[in-house]
Amino acid sequence: MSNKTPFSPNISTIASAIQPFHVMKILAEAKILEASGKEVIHMEIGEPDFASLPCVHQAANEAAEQGLTHYTPTMGLPALREKLADFYGDFYQANVSQNNIMITPGSSTALQLVLTALLNPGDKVMLADPAYPCNRQFVNLLHGELLAIPVSHETQYQLNLDLLKANWQAGIKVVMVASPANPTGTIIEQNELLAMAEFLAEQNAYFIVDEIYQGLVYERPAESILGNVNLPENVIVINSFSKFFGMTGWRLGWCVLPEHLISVMDRLGQNLFLAAPTPSQYGALRVLEQDALQALEARRAIFEQRRNALINAMQQASFTPKLIPQGAFYLYWDVSEYTDNSEQFCADLLQQTGVAITPGRDFGDYQAKQHVRLAYTTDIEKLTLAVQKISGFIHQNADFETVKSNLPGLVGFDIQGII
Ligand SMILES: Cc1ncc(COP(=O)(O)O)c(C=O)c1O
Repeated sequence: MSNKTPFSPNISTIASAIQPFHVMKILAEAKILEASGKEVIHMEIGEPDFASLPCVHQAANEAAEQGLTHYTPTMGLPALREKLADFYGDFYQANVSQNNIMITPGSSTALQLVLTALLNPGDKVMLADPAYPCNRQFVNLLHGELLAIPVSHETQYQLNLDLLKANWQAGIKVVMVASPANPTGTIIEQNELLAMAEFLAEQNAYFIVDEIYQGLVYERPAESILGNVNLPENVIVINSFSKFFGMTGWRLGWCVLPEHLISVMDRLGQNLFLAAPTPSQYGALRVLEQDALQALEARRAIFEQRRNALINAMQQASFTPKLIPQGAFYLYWDVSEYTDNSEQFCADLLQQTGVAITPGRDFGDYQAKQHVRLAYTTDIEKLTLAVQKISGFIHQNADFETVKSNLPGLVGFDIQGII
């Protein structure tokens, strides 16, 4: 018999209300299937399947061997901040001072820090539904109020100036967007972003622009809102070494701050994490060199080929995605022809075919049951096989069958051009 003093768990209300990432359930089930010997095609995971570049490993190792394993300043390794400032100048025609750049443990930390710097309890945060799920949880943790605006393929699943104006109300302190976005891979054009920033400045509201999929764009140049001159002082840019740079596990991101937020962000960082991982910062310094960027560009081209192959395979199977993603590595697919319960659809698909994809529920409420996210973070052969399996699954489950001929075609996209 235990003689431990009894204890009743007493978790905070706010933490108890934190929602899980439902894709983790799919991932756990996929692992069980794999362990039982079944082959699984992973299209649920939101990270590049490539390992980080060998030159990154070497640079981080060398730094560690030289004893560079201590804390860096909270704002980040000065050489890395300087290199990032040059990076903006060289690739985005943006005049960014290294003083305005803060290095963080993943962009996840940058997002939390920025929201902590801005939100009082009850302040409203506007974002799109669907959108990156963790942002909603960050706002909840800070006792902010969420204003999730339903968006569809008609606005590329993005907020725009008209939607801001139409949904504007007192108390909105922050608007958050991502371009390219997760889960849709869609982009907000620069003139639209600038117009949104200016409207928000007039309302005295902040604009958080998440550019973490910057660089992973197809048939168009990579851009940054920071390339616009005369940007108002309300714009905060979030970025990361996770996606284009392929360094998810190194936990390194950054943000570009307006002058008046530097001091508060430094103080928050000093208290909340002290400094981003030092070996990771040395690795990141190396990944910004020309030869590494060239290797990453080759990977970007592979993602583009995969996107095209995925869409081609979907077309062959008579599926009609309503939008072609312009970036990231996701396709947000309206499966309302086949199901009104995308969570069940994903669970059954996994069990019956071994194809793992993510239900819309992870990204919001609006039409979540009619959408799934496909991540093309696996090779073309597997993507093609996955679409064949999805097609077979749909045909086997007669309930999903409905008339397809009346569906609208692809929006603004000539499929012939990319195959
Ligand atoms: C839109 C978006 N922002 C931020 C993040 C957080 O990434 P990290 O903390 O690895 O930089 C993710 C991760 O998937 C994301 O999709």
